[in-house]
Amino acid sequence: MIYPKPKVVSFREKVNGIKKSTYLTHSLYYHPAKFIPQIVRFCLDEYCKKGETILDPFAGSGTMGVEAATQGFESYMLDINPLLDYFYPLKIPSFSKEEWEKAYYEARDFFKEVIHREPKVVKRINDNINYWYPEELYNYFCKVWTNFHELKDKKNKISVNAVALILFRISKYYSYAEHSMPKLFISKRKRALIEKKLKEPDIFGLIERMGFAILKDVKQSVDTLIELDGKLKHTKYFAGVDSSDFDFSKIPELDCIITSPPYLQAQEYMRTFKLEMMWIGIPQEKIKEAMSKEIPFREAPSRIRGEYVDKIREEIGRKDLLRLYDSYFWFTLKALENASKRLRKKGKLCVLIGNPKMKGIEVEIWKVIYEHFVKDSGFKFIDLFEDEIVYRKLFTGRNNQNPQGMKSEYLLVLEKN
Ligand SMILES: C[S@@+](CC[C@H](N)C(=O)[O-])C[C@H]1O[C@@H](n2cnc3c(N)ncnc32)[C@H](O)[C@@H]1O
Repeated sequence: MIYPKPKVVSFREKVNGIKKSTYLTHSLYYHPAKFIPQIVRFCLDEYCKKGETILDPFAGSGTMGVEAATQGFESYMLDINPLLDYFYPLKIPSFSKEEWEKAYYEARDFFKEVIHREPKVVKRINDNINYWYPEELYNYFCKVWTNFHELKDKKNKISVNAVALILFRISKYYSYAEHSMPKLFISKRKRALIEKKLKEPDIFGLIERMGFAILKDVKQSVDTLIELDGKLKHTKYFAGVDSSDFDFSKIPELDCIITSPPYLQAQEYMRTFKLEMMWIGIPQEKIKEAMSKEIPFREAPSRIRGEYVDKIREEIGRKDLLRLYDSYFWFTLKALENASKRLRKKGKLCVLIGNPKMKGIEVEIWKVIYEHFVKDSGFKFIDLFEDEIVYRKLFTGRNNQNPQGMKSEYLLVLEKN
């Protein structure tokens, strides 16, 4: 099979309309593998018409949704992560300026109440959380989260989301979990930081002030979207669903899919959010189930065949790696295939993906997608771009070095015949 040659571009430079990838609500909450918004914007400008309907079946932090809503597109987002239910409503607000003003002041009072109220009984929330905290902080956060759970049903949904977001951030920052890395683990650096914080004369005052500062940031970033009052398009999302067996008849006909599937080798995005999931009260079995459905950790019922995918399979040879390899391609391609059944004729499939290494062998994932869709599923090749990864601005003040040491990411654009 002859493969197309990528055109080398820099989407950061190519897309003039976006100066900073953290603009609007893009950096509202940390996600280990965000798109840069320039890539989504490029796809919308280049391959779509205003008013069309776009899907991201691996929506992560919702970069596609934010760009689509602000640029005049209806959008649908799916992700296995159930926590996204708390982030999306703030990232892509469907409320008015007045509702937001009211919710913001309510969120301030609610946060204060959550911090200062003494509940009758402090709940332990989840037995697996104490591992991540020194005792004083564990007890403190149990009290705070007990208050949140006891009071939330009496509050406005927008302010509940805002306070949940503050609590996620402070509970993570004041834990032993290394919050500046995609993986969830206890680092020496973080343990030392927490020990130092515990010696502060008023650590709980510090936590409270941090919470208010976060709320202010949230306000500022949501304000940038609220200014567009009335012009924001509609976004619908399904958080906590598996895209590889989702019933896509629940969504209308699509004009375009813009997505970046998970990385091939064990990124464990869900694990990054485990603390947050435990505090918010997602039952342990549900967390486990979502983690087991995360690509590529499930046994694949069969394997994807093709010239390139078979050749690399043979070169890798190692059983444990091939288990991931087969699972990755099976479930990722099933999700893309099922989703693309909702694409109208001439609809576009835009996939951004890198070339990770397995046993030192580079796996050009775009080639597997290309051969699967162009050869076997009736798609036409439109474009292939190679974008060098400089760094990823994931969150104010935090950069993600090249994931898995990859130098570039590839944007493959196909059209449904
Ligand atoms: C590379 S990230 C996407 C990041 C997104 N483009 C953004 O800008 O934030 C891949 C996403 O796929 C999700 N994912 C993994 N397995 C999934 C599955 N079986 N169904 C749906 N989503 C899944 C992960 O939770 C992760 O958010």
